[in-house]
Amino acid sequence: MTLPAIPTPSLTPPDIVRCAYMEFVVTDLKSSRAFYVDVLGLVVTEESDTEIYLRTFEEFIHHNLVLRQGPVAAVASLAFRVRTPEDVDRAQAYYEAMGCRTARRPNGFVTGVGDSVRVEDPLGFPYEFFYEVEHVDRLAWRYDLHTPGALVRLDHFNQVTPDVPRGLAYMEALGFRVTEDIEDEDGIVYAAWMRRKDTVHDTALTGGNGPRVHHIAFATHEKHNIISICDKLGALRLSDRIERGPGRHGVSNAFYLYLLDPDGHRVEIYTQDYYTGDPDNPVVKWDVHDNQRRDWWGNPVVPSWYTEASLVLDLDGNVTEVALREEPSEMAVTVGADGFSYTREGDTERGFKLGTTL
Ligand SMILES: [Fe+2]
Repeated sequence: MTLPAIPTPSLTPPDIVRCAYMEFVVTDLKSSRAFYVDVLGLVVTEESDTEIYLRTFEEFIHHNLVLRQGPVAAVASLAFRVRTPEDVDRAQAYYEAMGCRTARRPNGFVTGVGDSVRVEDPLGFPYEFFYEVEHVDRLAWRYDLHTPGALVRLDHFNQVTPDVPRGLAYMEALGFRVTEDIEDEDGIVYAAWMRRKDTVHDTALTGGNGPRVHHIAFATHEKHNIISICDKLGALRLSDRIERGPGRHGVSNAFYLYLLDPDGHRVEIYTQDYYTGDPDNPVVKWDVHDNQRRDWWGNPVVPSWYTEASLVLDLDGNVTEVALREEPSEMAVTVGADGFSYTREGDTERGFKLGTTL
């Protein structure tokens, strides 16, 4: 089954500034609070018995993460800030022209955010676009409140979709610019990273069964902040929350760590990628067989990182059906009996390190 091409509207797309917040449905709000507030140190902007609004230390908008108690762990929205109030109108018109379902709420879908539109996008993701937002204290200078692993900014989202080039065509028409991708010699695209702000990405498309959300990523100032988070998790006997890393990415050049929250939602801690804001910023293309693409030190990617991701909700709050990827998976083509990877191009030996769990 080939998915139909996504139409490109002739309308002007909304001017997207950046990824702004994600809304997670969690099954035990108390456990989630313990993870995000007590362990990771995100700042509570406000909370109730059913919702918690969290932000990073440098943030001045109301929140970067909403935790909402619900029956099934899922992602209810991936929200982007747009440049002007009129861009919310543009977003609504643009998605309606693509035949997508939209919902507009002048008072917002969540506390702290005003006029917004939510859409079921052509890839099945619940995107939100908003301009109006409540400003709160930017705690950048409140070092008395910072922890050794202080999370200072929301950096990006990462989405799983079966057909990456199909998704890329839609995202580029929407105004995103590709910064890096992973391909093979036959032109199959396994993943791509794209930006609005001047970093490597605001979101990425990872090839796999979807729509699902692969992760949300928060930035720290320095690499040592990430090491501190690992040390703290060990001290709390929560090392099993560490799924992958710490390490250095090939793609993005960032230092990284992947954690799993109590519901299995994946959180990346990320720091020190590079500036991408020039109009002729070069696109970096990685060979899927290059063993340093996912980890610059050549450490293996754990299988769960390739296979597990969060379900997403439609505008009625129901879980969106997941479609299978038909092209080969990155895990299958790089590791295991039929796959290969190299450390030095041209070497015939297997490029991944001994000790891989595959
Ligand atoms: Fe990431």
